[in-house]
Amino acid sequence: MFRKIITLANYKGGVSKTTSTASIGACLAMKGKKVLLIDLDGQANLTLYFVPNEDDIEQCIFDSLVSGNPLPIMKIRENLDLVPSSLEMASAEIALTNLLAREQLLTKLLESVKDNYDYILIDCPPSLGIVTTNAFLAADEIIVPMTPELLPLKGMRMLDSFVLSLQRIKPSLKLSGVFIARYNHRKLNKVVEQAVKDRYSSIMLNTRIRENIALAESAGSGMSIFEYDPQSNGANDYLALTEEILSRNL
Ligand SMILES: Nc1ncnc2c1ncn2[C@@H]1O[C@H](COP(=O)(O)OP(=O)(O)OP(=O)(O)O)[C@@H](O)[C@H]1O
Ligand SMILES: [Mg+2]
Repeated sequence: MFRKIITLANYKGGVSKTTSTASIGACLAMKGKKVLLIDLDGQANLTLYFVPNEDDIEQCIFDSLVSGNPLPIMKIRENLDLVPSSLEMASAEIALTNLLAREQLLTKLLESVKDNYDYILIDCPPSLGIVTTNAFLAADEIIVPMTPELLPLKGMRMLDSFVLSLQRIKPSLKLSGVFIARYNHRKLNKVVEQAVKDRYSSIMLNTRIRENIALAESAGSGMSIFEYDPQSNGANDYLALTEEILSRNL
C-alpha cells in the first residue's frame, strides 16, 4: 500500500480546506485508492458533508484524542472511510492543553490504522493551535489551499513561522503544496495568485479550483461533487488537482 498522510490546513477560515479534503478524498476513492478522511474541526463540516444526519454519529475524534480510545471509523462510501468530528472538538484547544505529549496524540492514534489506507486526509480548523499542530506533526505532506482575496502575505508569514516552530519537534516538516481555490478571473485574483506564486514557487500547484456554485451546493447535500454534478467545473478542477497531487507523488 502507498500510504500517505496529507493534511489540508490554513490559518484562515473559508478557504476551501473542507471542500478540498472531501473532494480530493472522494476522487482518490473513485480511482480505487483506499482513503480515510479525518475531521478535526468542531464545525464538523467535513462530517456533515458525508453524514448529514448528526444522529448517525455515535463517537467522534474528540474522545480518542482525549482518552486514547481507538479512532471511531465510519464507512461512508466504497473505499472511503471517515473519522467524524462534532461540536465537542471546539473545546479541544483547551481540553488537550494539559495532556502528556499533546502535540502528537493524532500521530499515535493513526499508527494502528494507517497501514489499512493508501491515503489519509486530515481537515483542520481555521487556526494554528494545538489541533492543527497535531495534524502537521502526523502528516507526510501538508497542502495549503489559499483564496485569492486581499493579499494574504501577512498570513503566509504566520504560516511559515508556524512551520518553523514545529521543525523543532520534527525537523523534516515542511509545506509540500499550495494551490488557489475559489478562483474567478478578477484582476485582484491574478495579483494575489502571483504573490502566492512568488513566495511559494517551488511548491505551487498548477491546478486552480474555480469558484463554482455546484461546490457550494454539494456541501449540504450529503454528496461529493462527483456525485452531485460530475460535469461541473468543480468536479473537473478537483479531478485535475487530484491527478496533479498523484503525479507529484504528494
Ligand atoms: N470553489 C468553490 N466555489 C464556490 N464555493 C466554494 C468553493 N470552495 C468552497 N466553497 C464554499 O465556501 C465555503 C467555505 O468553504 P469550506 O468550508 O470548504 O472552507 P474551509 O476553509 O474549510 O472553512 P472553515 O475554515 O470554516 O473550516 C463553503 O460554503 C463552501 O461550500
Ligand atoms: Mg472547514
